[in-house]
Amino acid sequence: KQDQFILGIETSCDETAAAVVKNGKIVLSNVVASQIESHKRFGGVVPEIASRHHVEQITLVIEAAMEQAGIGFRDLTAIAVTKGPGLVGALLIGIEAAKTLAFAHRLPLVPVHHIAGHIYANRLEREMEFPLIALVVSGGHTELIYMKEHGSFRLIGETRDDAAGEAFDKVARTLNLPYPGGPQIDRLAREGKPVIDLPRAWLEKDSYDFSFSGLKSAVIYALRDAEERGETIDPKDLAASFQASVVEVLAEKTVRAAKEFQAKQVLVAGGVAANRGLREKMAEAMKSLPGVPLVIPSLELCTDNAAMIAACGSVLFEKGVRADLTLNADPSYGL
Ligand code: KG4
Ligand code: ZN
Repeated sequence: KQDQFILGIETSCDETAAAVVKNGKIVLSNVVASQIESHKRFGGVVPEIASRHHVEQITLVIEAAMEQAGIGFRDLTAIAVTKGPGLVGALLIGIEAAKTLAFAHRLPLVPVHHIAGHIYANRLEREMEFPLIALVVSGGHTELIYMKEHGSFRLIGETRDDAAGEAFDKVARTLNLPYPGGPQIDRLAREGKPVIDLPRAWLEKDSYDFSFSGLKSAVIYALRDAEERGETIDPKDLAASFQASVVEVLAEKTVRAAKEFQAKQVLVAGGVAANRGLREKMAEAMKSLPGVPLVIPSLELCTDNAAMIAACGSVLFEKGVRADLTLNADPSYGL
């Protein structure tokens, strides 16, 4: 069988990314142009600024990905691009680039769901085994997904308010830490102790949903109350306590789902999968599921990138998923 080469393109948020993946698993190139520096002073991603950066970077990033992969457009099997969810003006830049290249080089176009992409980042390091449970935790998402086979995604739980990463970023802002706050909290938490009592939102007994806005408010009140009493709270302890509350709920629900659905594998994906507290808590919780592997991609594959889009696109391509040149961005694309 001929080798398959997929060019992946991702522009859903603040990273302009392109990558080439061979046979769905081998990363030949993975280029990411981050805009974090431009958004930092606003404390979050500014959509209009994101779109402008994508326009500037997209051609360079795609050229670099092709060059590093050492192949030409005629060697490609297909182009996979993020259709959504994400910022509409940002998504459109990647989609227009993908459509232009697909038209010019007569290549099939494969639309990819951003969250499905995050899950498939795992396949670049280890083969997936089904059924599996995937926890996707990022700046915009907190979702538990059941997969019974390749390309099949069933949402079993999601956040009812803030995404996990969003909660990290908001709490970090309260502590005057720079954006993005997740890595900052992670770092502080390692030096502190989880001694401050914060709530855990378990929700209804059987629910796989999440909620983080109450926790975020509890952090703000804890700081305010201490201030009113003329006391100070050590930000390290607050970071440790907040992180402990988030990762405890994430790990418990993921492992409970893995048991109920008799998962053969548990995956964690998305930017928050980089969190060391979550990695440790998950590893600990997985001890109650002997023989079931926990798979978490390495750091550069956890955060937004295009190799994950190409990896997911590879499977969808084999399943016959195609888009034509009317492909449009869908900012609230469902799985
Ligand atoms: O997947 P991603 O790069 O972009 C989205 O699709 O959202 O995730 C970014 C999010 C941000 O909220 C960031 O603060 C969070 O992931 N994050 C972390 C860590 N590294 C990144 N959160 C907690 N601990 C970390 N080490
Ligand atoms: Zn993402």
